[in-house]
Amino acid sequence: MIANPARLILHRCDELARITDEPGRLTRTFASLAMRRANALVGVWMRGAGMKTRVDAIGNLIGHYPGTEPGSKILLLGSHLDTVCNAGKFDGPLGVILAIACVEKLHRQKVRLPFAIEVIGFADEEGVRYQTAYLGSKALAGCFDGSDLRRKDTAGISMADAIKCFGGKPAKLKSARLNPKYLLGYLEVHIEQGPVLVRKNLAVGVVTAIAGQSRFEISFTGHAGHAGTVPMGLRRDALCAAAEFIVAAEKFACKTDRLVATVGQVCAEPGASNVIPGEVRLTLDVRHQLDSARRAGCAMLHKLARQIARARKVKVDWRPVQQTASVSCSPQLSRRLKRAVNKYQSKVAVLSSGAGHDATVMARITPTAMLFVRCKGGVSHHPDESVSCPDVRVTFEVMNGFLRQLAEDYA
Ligand code: GLV
Ligand code: MN
Ligand code: MN
Repeated sequence: MIANPARLILHRCDELARITDEPGRLTRTFASLAMRRANALVGVWMRGAGMKTRVDAIGNLIGHYPGTEPGSKILLLGSHLDTVCNAGKFDGPLGVILAIACVEKLHRQKVRLPFAIEVIGFADEEGVRYQTAYLGSKALAGCFDGSDLRRKDTAGISMADAIKCFGGKPAKLKSARLNPKYLLGYLEVHIEQGPVLVRKNLAVGVVTAIAGQSRFEISFTGHAGHAGTVPMGLRRDALCAAAEFIVAAEKFACKTDRLVATVGQVCAEPGASNVIPGEVRLTLDVRHQLDSARRAGCAMLHKLARQIARARKVKVDWRPVQQTASVSCSPQLSRRLKRAVNKYQSKVAVLSSGAGHDATVMARITPTAMLFVRCKGGVSHHPDESVSCPDVRVTFEVMNGFLRQLAEDYA
């Protein structure tokens, strides 16, 4: 039995981090065996906190804590339970586990609020398996693109089959949609994944807006051939074209104010040391706080890819897989959050998010707010991700304060 709630929260983050698809490192992708085990464990914690649990048609885990009246409106709390490859323990799970701890406190004190609370463990925020993020929140917000069900993972498994195998219902994803009429709002707590709070020496900060993002799948197709016999001048090497593009994209982003562009995955075919690569597939992720600047950046990068392909006599195929606009957080909910922060911290930091979050999608159906927690060195998407126990304690108190205040204003 761990009495300090922050220590229990961190202990649970450790426990959850042991559930992985890859032995020796933390990788938990959409609809995987590890996600099923994660849902099972988090479900136990949810039920222990007085919630009734369900897993929806796409695999989101949802715990329901009733309000004072049957049919009361619902405040959503949560974050995602999937991870990147070789992830840290806190990106996603911290927000879910903190939310459960808040409900657990209400349950222990036998307190019901004038609204219900639903804690959501989203099924996919990172988009690792199918390259298209926010699958869980898109299903809840009713904006899931059905054509994504045909996408295949690297093992050739379609998204529809993966969902089915997980126990979900790919043909009934509409049933996962939440009715905005019954929603009060959505609060997501997440590690900052950047250095602002460290620099300001503050435990938490209130998020004003979340940057938009574009993701592409790009392929360069040249001609495979013998590495020993084809003279350099006669080659159409797809990997050399891709490499030139990757460096050009980096240079372009470096000279474009606040634009970030990342090639995170490269696959060369046929992939042998004595064969000239004939085809290369790569991913490109482009972000900017301003949607117009992001779109202009994407257009320029596409142009660069075409120029490089033309000069090297290879073909380029450019497929957008995801475009999300930037979103502003709800001023009303954020104001309440700031008031709650004010009680536990000398200053209220406000900051914007360069990372994407389920809140981006949830903002389509309900007012949304986000609270960031300082993470050590601003490091994230890396096993070194770390948060301190005192910071988690402050976050927990801020969340409780936010809930109390919302309950008072709502009653
Ligand atoms: C999620 O972490 C993202 O910003 O891609
Ligand atoms: Mn992430
Ligand atoms: Mn995240």
